[in-house]
Amino acid sequence: MRKPFVAGNWKMNTDSRSSVELAKGVVDGSVKLAGRDVDVAVCPPFVYLQAVARAVSSSSVAVGAQDVYYGVKGAFTGEISASMLKDTGCTYALCGHSERRHVIGETDELINKKVAAAIGGGLLPILCVGELQSEREAGQTEEVVTRHIKKGLAGLSAEKASAVTVAYEPVWAIGTGLTATPEQAQEAHEFIRGLLAEIYDGRLADEIRILYGGSVKADNAADLMGRADIDGVLVGGASLKVDDFVAIIEAAA
Ligand code: 13P
Repeated sequence: MRKPFVAGNWKMNTDSRSSVELAKGVVDGSVKLAGRDVDVAVCPPFVYLQAVARAVSSSSVAVGAQDVYYGVKGAFTGEISASMLKDTGCTYALCGHSERRHVIGETDELINKKVAAAIGGGLLPILCVGELQSEREAGQTEEVVTRHIKKGLAGLSAEKASAVTVAYEPVWAIGTGLTATPEQAQEAHEFIRGLLAEIYDGRLADEIRILYGGSVKADNAADLMGRADIDGVLVGGASLKVDDFVAIIEAAA
């Protein structure tokens, strides 16, 4: 049985005070869910990771980074390694978020190195995949997702791949208020799980969690997570409001 997983991607939001307040709010809101089977993580900007990690340290709320660099150490100005993130208190690292693919220009090859480096550094990568609106309209959703998954996981043994969570985030649903319908999301998730079974085996495909992301709100989370292959959600905007995020965690629990 896959344990539900709710992660908040704060993107480039909050400041030193509000990041800690938000983290504490999530901790307080999650207390009443103690013992319920749901994993929760928040992904603040790099500069607030340490403060947020401290704020959640006595709780079951985990911390994730929004990105990770593949180099171990040395002359990579501006980059942050997996071991630094681990040292700062991170458990997870997002890899290949659509904004990094489409705004920053990250390639599948780079993302693959990041996934491998995250695992090598003791982090659990959350590999984000998903098609653009034009790609969906052109009937290329499966082709795009296949490329993101196959290239993103290239060279990873089944054992290493078992550390990965996949997040299906159709780009047209991110920050637009246009959520994929539970049927559309389930269809994509089922396809991804089939792909994982093809690349690895059925057992691993059965174990890997696949999250949905894209305009998840308190009022659509339960319906999405009620589908067979939707194991949780990766939340952007609604993760910046304590009440909304906690309501989503409640829906998962
Ligand atoms: P929104 O929930 O704001 O659409 O963002 C989704 C996302 O990109 C999470 O990583």
